[in-house]
Amino acid sequence: MPRQIVLASRPSGWPTAANFALTETGQPELADGQVRVRNLFMSVDPYMRGRMNDVKSYVPPFRLGEPLEGGAIGTVIESRSPDLVKGDLILHMLGWRDEAVLPAQQARKVTPAAGLSPSAYLGVLGMPTLTAYVGLLDIAALKPGDVVFVSGAAGAVGSMAGQIAKLKGAARVIGSAGSDEKIRWLREIGFDAAFNYRARSVVEQLREAAPDGIDVYFDNVGADHLDAALVMLSPHGRVAMSGAIAHYNATEPPVGPSNLGLVITRRLTLRGFIVSDHQHRMPDMIADVTAWLRDGRLSHAETVVDGLDHAPDAFINLLRGANTGKMIVRL
Ligand SMILES: NC(=O)c1ccc[n+]([C@@H]2O[C@H](COP(=O)([O-])OP(=O)(O)OC[C@H]3O[C@@H](n4cnc5c(N)ncnc54)[C@H](OP(=O)(O)O)[C@@H]3O)[C@@H](O)[C@H]2O)c1
Repeated sequence: MPRQIVLASRPSGWPTAANFALTETGQPELADGQVRVRNLFMSVDPYMRGRMNDVKSYVPPFRLGEPLEGGAIGTVIESRSPDLVKGDLILHMLGWRDEAVLPAQQARKVTPAAGLSPSAYLGVLGMPTLTAYVGLLDIAALKPGDVVFVSGAAGAVGSMAGQIAKLKGAARVIGSAGSDEKIRWLREIGFDAAFNYRARSVVEQLREAAPDGIDVYFDNVGADHLDAALVMLSPHGRVAMSGAIAHYNATEPPVGPSNLGLVITRRLTLRGFIVSDHQHRMPDMIADVTAWLRDGRLSHAETVVDGLDHAPDAFINLLRGANTGKMIVRL
């Protein structure tokens, strides 16, 4: 019998294994227009932590006792839709389960990308890279010659943001991440400088890496990283506010940056965005990324965890920084 992961209880602070339960699904008959998909890979993403809280946000909260949802890619094994046939590879939002039944209209058929695992559609050819692309080019309006700082740089979004900045003409790209091994990898994939934020204060290390200041900050972290970036941003600097992962498990409201006054005196622009509002940029992103991958100019990494029963651990470990590049669960 196919299985699924349900939300057993809402986490308070850091999620634990007890917040999740593995249950069996039924095998419902298909209605007209529906397909049954056997999932091959599912995504775990930081935004899912927000959906585990019972609060109103840009996506509704997960429901207690119901299966979790999220990006997944799989093969159609049964179809009652004229649009999809058995064997088609589809991208959809019913991850966290071995099999799913959904209307064909809620799936996007994709062609297996040459030389890439189907999981690429959850990472380098998917939502995280679109976030990096839109955040840099449209939100922060990257210009050739900019000095760019990316936090969470060794993750799915950050590793793409840093490389795309270089490929689009940034003069210098600096990244921060949470281990020396990640720092070595960032240098290998083309970051000009990278530092381990756990080793010393972020502002000190950012000042050493960018003595003349930064023009763009791609913020995945918030907290001390945003504070440090504000100190180092040059006049008219721009911030793409992508995420604030340092706050996602906080049980108390976070203390705001102590230096927001700099936004005024330096004429800075801080702009938040949600990638789902920018789907129209997907074809541009795919065209650029496909060409860069073909020419060997873009590197990407995946950390792959095996088995649906390990999906909760994969999610918890993503929040702890166990991943380099995109965290993926193979089903
Ligand atoms: N705006 C949007 O539409 C949008 C879309 C997708 C993602 N996002 C945001 O983008 C960010 C990255 O997402 P992702 O999917 O690419 O995840 P990811 O970066 O692949 O994984 C999360 C990483 O965050 C780092 N981290 C955890 N706690 C931290 C802390 N307290 N301080 C600094 N770093 C910490 C960990 O790496 P270390 O080892 O370096 O700590 C971990 O690997 C998240 O904030 C996410 O919410 C936004």
